[in-house]
Amino acid sequence: MLWQIAAAALARDVTVADVGWSRAVETTPRHEFVPHWWTPGVCLLPSRLPGAATPWRADSERSWRWVRGEAGAVGHAVVYHPDRGLVVRVGADHADRARATQRALDRAGFGRGGDVLVEGAATCTATAPRTLIRLFRAAGVHDTTRVLEIGTGTGYGTALLVARLGDRYVTTIDQDSDLLRAARDRLARFGRRPAMHVGDATTAIPDGTYDAIVSTVPVNPVPAVWLAALQPGGRLVTPVLSTHLVLTVTAHGDGTATGSLDVLTAGDRQGVGAFTDVPPRAAATAADRRHCQALIADGEHVGLSDVPAQPLAEDSHLFSTLGLAVPGVRVHHHRPGPAAPPAGVGATTCLTHPDGSWARAANTRQGTEVHQHGPRRLWHLLAHARADLDATGGVCPAHGATVRVTPDGALHLDRFARTPASNSAR
Ligand SMILES: C[S@@+](CC[C@H](N)C(=O)[O-])C[C@H]1O[C@@H](n2cnc3c(N)ncnc32)[C@H](O)[C@@H]1O
Repeated sequence: MLWQIAAAALARDVTVADVGWSRAVETTPRHEFVPHWWTPGVCLLPSRLPGAATPWRADSERSWRWVRGEAGAVGHAVVYHPDRGLVVRVGADHADRARATQRALDRAGFGRGGDVLVEGAATCTATAPRTLIRLFRAAGVHDTTRVLEIGTGTGYGTALLVARLGDRYVTTIDQDSDLLRAARDRLARFGRRPAMHVGDATTAIPDGTYDAIVSTVPVNPVPAVWLAALQPGGRLVTPVLSTHLVLTVTAHGDGTATGSLDVLTAGDRQGVGAFTDVPPRAAATAADRRHCQALIADGEHVGLSDVPAQPLAEDSHLFSTLGLAVPGVRVHHHRPGPAAPPAGVGATTCLTHPDGSWARAANTRQGTEVHQHGPRRLWHLLAHARADLDATGGVCPAHGATVRVTPDGALHLDRFARTPASNSAR
């Protein structure tokens, strides 16, 4: 199948008859920006989970198999899918570079049994096309908007922006120089040369005044430099750290901004594994270390809880309520193996935080046993979040709330019952 057919179908689906975005999607070859990716692959890892029936566990959350993007209907069905976010890097392993490893395995005669597997946390996901267009539209991007994109990643979002606006209106930044170089090379192949910068956008952004800032890097608080760089009336759209919430605010020119917070739809959530990517290298390694500790260590505080171990990231409202109360918290859920007893027994959930706190909850036949350690009792905070949700009929109290951002980047919600979302983790 010609990619243009797939791109035209994608454009019809995601652009809601907006001619400007429709042309941009139709003319942008996503397969050139996302040629290969990682897909969850089950890999047997040594298990030290308490009560595990076998010394091995199947870890599908952190095991990945390399996928070679293919031309033709099958490959394009994935790359041009409106709602598929594709993981392009795990730890420091970029999918583009795994190609050489796959060739070596093929040469050594492993055939299909020789899949390239890696283990670790996703550190870059290509945002799903529908989600990108939603973010751009929410930011009010139109033909002459000077826009700053935060989180270049594969460069596909940048490519859409330059297709719509032209090079001179687009600036993009990513903290990873390898990713940025790859994105720059790809854009240059199509004669596109927007301003591209390497750096940590939470501390500094490229000089300039912008009409819109669109970020796929989750933050809480909002970096003060972002609001300061917006024209009065300019819009910021960004995911909120450790949540499935998107913040959309209009700047007032005095360092403050007002707007709303919204829970992502199920489709967008799939499209933005993105928003839960951990930053690469040092931070990813530290997060992995905390997770390993939470899996195996004894906590200072041990008790039973009414809140069971569960795949928290699948419940956006609970996940977001917890994430607003504890920005920076990370969730890892381990499902019991296929031979495990029914009713969730054997499932384990770990919560970790950069401040050194961790909790491990394991469902046993006697109830949910919880180990907690460090300055904060994360499982108790989850129980508070659960209680908040019970009081609001299961809806995250921040969903649809009006929000004011003060110059220090703190989010102030006009109806958020328990904990203001103002403390920092970045
Ligand atoms: C969700 S991915 C990018 C997705 C991109 N929209 C795409 O479709 O390819 C987020 C990107 O943000 C970058 N990033 C993470 N933290 C950052 C920071 N503090 N400053 C700049 N870039 C950052 C990551 O390197 C990653 O490439």
